[in-house]
Amino acid sequence: MKEVRFGIIGLGNMGAAHVGFIKNIPRAKIAALCDIDKAKVDALAAKNSVKAYYDGVKMIRSGDIDAVIIATPHYDHTPLAIEAFKSGVHVLTEKPVAVHKADVQKMIDAHKKSKKVLFSAMFQQRTLGHYRKLKQLLDAGEFGEVRRVNWIITNWFRTQRYYDSGGWRATWGGEGGGVLLNQCPHNLDLFQWLFGMPSKIRAFCKVGRYHDIEVEDDVTAYCEYPSGATGVFITSTGEAPGTNRLEITCDRGRVIVENGKIAFNRTESSVSEFCKTTDKIFETPQMWNVDIPYQETGSAPAHQKIIENFVGAILDGSELLVHGEEGINSVELANTMLYSSMKDKTVTLPLDAGAYAALLKGLVKTSKFKKKEIKSGAVNLGSSFGK
Ligand SMILES: NC(=O)c1ccc[n+]([C@@H]2O[C@H](COP(=O)([O-])OP(=O)(O)OC[C@H]3O[C@@H](n4cnc5c(N)ncnc54)[C@H](O)[C@@H]3O)[C@@H](O)[C@H]2O)c1
Repeated sequence: MKEVRFGIIGLGNMGAAHVGFIKNIPRAKIAALCDIDKAKVDALAAKNSVKAYYDGVKMIRSGDIDAVIIATPHYDHTPLAIEAFKSGVHVLTEKPVAVHKADVQKMIDAHKKSKKVLFSAMFQQRTLGHYRKLKQLLDAGEFGEVRRVNWIITNWFRTQRYYDSGGWRATWGGEGGGVLLNQCPHNLDLFQWLFGMPSKIRAFCKVGRYHDIEVEDDVTAYCEYPSGATGVFITSTGEAPGTNRLEITCDRGRVIVENGKIAFNRTESSVSEFCKTTDKIFETPQMWNVDIPYQETGSAPAHQKIIENFVGAILDGSELLVHGEEGINSVELANTMLYSSMKDKTVTLPLDAGAYAALLKGLVKTSKFKKKEIKSGAVNLGSSFGK
């Protein structure tokens, strides 16, 4: 294969943008487009001189494409990806990989069976220079042992008008959650990529705290890690001005990641050693400030970098930046936070996927989102709630 023939399913905000990204990538071309909105796909397909499909399964099975980008609302990521794996089509799915853990597991199982195709996910924030540098330094142990992680991400402000724009958003039936499923999958992916998975979570998720919606728009989660480290993850779509501040307390000082900068307050010696050995009563270790430099890899938009990497992995066998299987972690974090809050208890990970699916199924029954609001979608395609 000399170039990758892409099909895109779902041509809304994100899918339409992917059309533009693919056009910029050598050795990639758009071969087919699909949406359940006929007028939308007809217009975009005509503009790009490619075939229009109104059914994702038909496009996947057509033989017209080598790889598919799935950019539909989240519930449909699962059945479409599974169909692609069965048909020998490479999959790059939008985030979140799926709505709940049991659905991601089904995708992973189908991918394992397919053997010869790749599975990746659009976690484009992993390409950002400051996060890549931070991961490199954390993995190398440059900051000493991580003791505490505090991430406040409240710069996802959304208005009531945004939520009232209707459709699948901010409903249990159409989306399967609120800020944790829509805005935060990127942060939750970085959270697990940088610090691993916690062993326990106690969360408080407020449903409709700032908006008239049926899902959560405000979250405070306390996490415990196998190492003994602790973490707090706070997010909201109702605060302005918002903050995006990641503060990591380590044995060799404190790292603050904010506004694209990595600021390290480095201690002269190990804080734990100093604490145990000093003969002073109120003194703290000597410390100095370091602004850690980093470089971006090229100037392409982050989404485009993920697609470029995916193309390279298909054609040259190069390493994927994001393995789709890893998407289970951010989904599990989101699900566990919701489960902990709704059951009013601390949850030990791994999360019982069946128990969460049952909880979600109950919420979907009460959802104001009804099937007819989109002609196709989760329910028609058969995304399941697992057992
Ligand atoms: N990576 C990112 O930065 C990013 C940003 C925005 C959205 N997203 C993700 O992209 C996905 C889509 O979000 P959006 O904001 O583009 O939504 P959107 O509502 O703007 O677009 C969704 C499109 O999918 C179509 N659609 C729905 N069900 C379909 C089906 N079964 N088959 C074919 N087409 C179908 C709709 O008609 C619509 O055109 C979501 O999963 C979202 O989380 C990712």
